[in-house]
Amino acid sequence: MDELDTLVESSRNAFAQAQTPAELENAKAQFLGKSGQITALMKGMAALTVEEKKTRGAAINAAKQAIEACLAERRQALADAALARQLQAEALDVTLPYHLRSTGGLHPVMRAQERIEAIFSSMGFDVADGPEIETDWYSFTALNNPPNHPARSMQDTFYVDLKDADGLPLNLRPHTSPMQVRYARAHARKYAGQAHMPDIRVIAPGRTYRVDSDATHSPMFHQFEGLWIGENVSFKDLKVMYLDFAQAFFESRALQLRFRPSYFPFTEPSAEIDIMFEHGPLAGRWLEVSGSGQVHPQVVRNMGLDPERYIGFAFGSGIDRLAMLRYGVNDLRLFFEGDLRFLSQFQ
Ligand code: PHE
Repeated sequence: MDELDTLVESSRNAFAQAQTPAELENAKAQFLGKSGQITALMKGMAALTVEEKKTRGAAINAAKQAIEACLAERRQALADAALARQLQAEALDVTLPYHLRSTGGLHPVMRAQERIEAIFSSMGFDVADGPEIETDWYSFTALNNPPNHPARSMQDTFYVDLKDADGLPLNLRPHTSPMQVRYARAHARKYAGQAHMPDIRVIAPGRTYRVDSDATHSPMFHQFEGLWIGENVSFKDLKVMYLDFAQAFFESRALQLRFRPSYFPFTEPSAEIDIMFEHGPLAGRWLEVSGSGQVHPQVVRNMGLDPERYIGFAFGSGIDRLAMLRYGVNDLRLFFEGDLRFLSQFQ
């Protein structure tokens, strides 16, 4: 190995020892810098003949290029190592388990309500919405329940510190029955003066309020009102329709209905509707799900209709009650405590 090969070899070693770009630049200066070894060799050619300069110069140049190649190689190796370190440091381990966020869902009472709306829509009923803060007339008087009548205590509710046009305090509606009168009046107005009025067929679901609180009663609860008024509507239609509804809601034909005589000021006759399952954990027990009855002639009059011509029935059912039966919940209050451990079971 001649002197030039040794020089190339020692540059390769020097570059290999450099661990940073700065160290590499220092090492480079030893060989290729102004006072480096290649420059010194070039200077040493001054005394040579022209012929000798040619061969010696070519040899030194080849050594210089070889050293530059070693330098470039080491530069690349240092850059590659730096990049590899950076990639390693910034790596994301996509296999780590992440915190699962569950999506929200419908409240079980809303689920029940949507089922009820779908079933009644399929039977040709409209679905209507009404105010939760009501006037005294719509909540009571229009429903044949005049001021100071004892039947008002059946629906004891909360009052708002504001008076309606009659000077009576507004109330949080104790039932959805005001919607019977609101909907029917709008319907009657729409068809006033026409020879034929289509039947009124509507359900009105929503929140209702009473001064009541225990495992089966909540101060806020949900009802849906049903109303069917026409020239030839009878209790028989109520029975057939409600049985169809109950069988669709519970997805079972193995259930029975019972109409138990009752009293409401706005229906005459009146009945509680009880349901009995033939199978399952609740089998054999009559469970109350709804009030109902033939709409009282005075209420038909308050709807703006002639009670000699129009007749029909109404019912008011507990949505929470139906949801409890469908989902097997035994305490109504669970629905309204906002406990996700309970609510997420219905998703
Ligand atoms: N509004 C009655 C209640 O809440 C239920 C009902 C509605 C009864 C319609 C008869 C007719 O108790």
